[in-house]
Amino acid sequence: MKKQYILLFRAAVTVFLVFLGAYAGVPDRFSKAYAESQIRTTAFPSSVQPDQLCLTWSGDPATTQTVQWRTSPKVKKGYVEYKEKTAQTKDCIKKTAIRYDLENAGTSNDPINHRFTAVLDGLTPGITYTYRAGSKKGWSEWAEFTTAPQTTAPFSFIYVGDLQVGLDTWGLLLHAAYKLHPEAAFYMVAGDNVNRGNYRHEWDNLFHAAEGVFDRRTYVPALGNHDCKDGGPNLYLNLLTLPENSPKEIGPERTYCFNYGNALFLVLDSNSSVEKQRPWMEEQLKSTKATWKFAMYHHPAYSSAPKRDNVDVREKWGSLFDQYHLDMALQGHDHGYLRTKPMRAGKEAASPAEGTIYVVSVSGTKHYDVGQFDYAAKTLDHLSTYQLLDIQTSPENKLTYRAYDIDGKMQDELVIMK
Ligand SMILES: [Fe+2]
Repeated sequence: MKKQYILLFRAAVTVFLVFLGAYAGVPDRFSKAYAESQIRTTAFPSSVQPDQLCLTWSGDPATTQTVQWRTSPKVKKGYVEYKEKTAQTKDCIKKTAIRYDLENAGTSNDPINHRFTAVLDGLTPGITYTYRAGSKKGWSEWAEFTTAPQTTAPFSFIYVGDLQVGLDTWGLLLHAAYKLHPEAAFYMVAGDNVNRGNYRHEWDNLFHAAEGVFDRRTYVPALGNHDCKDGGPNLYLNLLTLPENSPKEIGPERTYCFNYGNALFLVLDSNSSVEKQRPWMEEQLKSTKATWKFAMYHHPAYSSAPKRDNVDVREKWGSLFDQYHLDMALQGHDHGYLRTKPMRAGKEAASPAEGTIYVVSVSGTKHYDVGQFDYAAKTLDHLSTYQLLDIQTSPENKLTYRAYDIDGKMQDELVIMK
């Protein structure tokens, strides 16, 4: 009899704990997600051979290039060898990389990676370089990158919305973009780079899918809410070396800006305080002499999804965009495609010269319904796209914006003259 009471008591405690885990919002040690997190593995474990070779910027795109990669813990040192494309191999410069030991116990078959980062500096603007990364234990293939032009010159870049889910298929879209537009100098990603930001195997999937593109075109990410899942953007910040010119209140690499050619780019963190980023944003927008101004962030000021709205972003950032005339805001989060009319103070403006164009797009395979909104100039339903933004400087300043699907079919187009 006594044994039956003990069993009954244990069963009651178990049921209570399961409910606690499922509904109480405490760390859900009894949930399905927790159980899965304990057994996750990566399909791409590290080895002595460098992989996940990826270009970012942490300094001026005209004179620096940041190179990062990983190996297994057997490799203790890393280097980048690089030279101007037309120079002799004997003229290669060798740069020692900084090593960071990345531990992610949840990735059970490859819990420790050695991450290497080298910032190549003193580069010549507008020049193509060849480089490889590694050590005597193994080198990457040689790849090329090109520094930003010092003077105003035409250029183009790619912007995509959320990857997050379906990274294999996303990789096909990315490679389709690269194949059709090899001239695009860099790739901007408007957040939700992965689905669960602290699951390293998802980042492994991303880098694998991006192999052959992010090792030759700079990856410019923004921070999405999914990148912050399970305790903040730890892996995002540890894996990616980004500019540290953010406002003090937000923290380095979460918000940053850079210039490329005749354009200013603000990469903002819409997960953090919108208000606290305003003074810094105003400083950048007020002081720039750039012809074109772009902002990229995750949560849209003008949503594509029914019943979604980010009033704070629209009002607090939108008012600065109005005041200093931002040309385009590149956004994500809503898993749909929407390009607005030129907008100013929440209303349609007469032309892009008087208002800002806001775009939401998605590049992964997770789609939401797209709503009907007065502010929409173009919507696309359940379609993953990439966008090419082409800037010409002669005979006049011209921005051609085009959205393409995976087959290279143009789905949207806008031209702005200045
Ligand atoms: Fe999101």
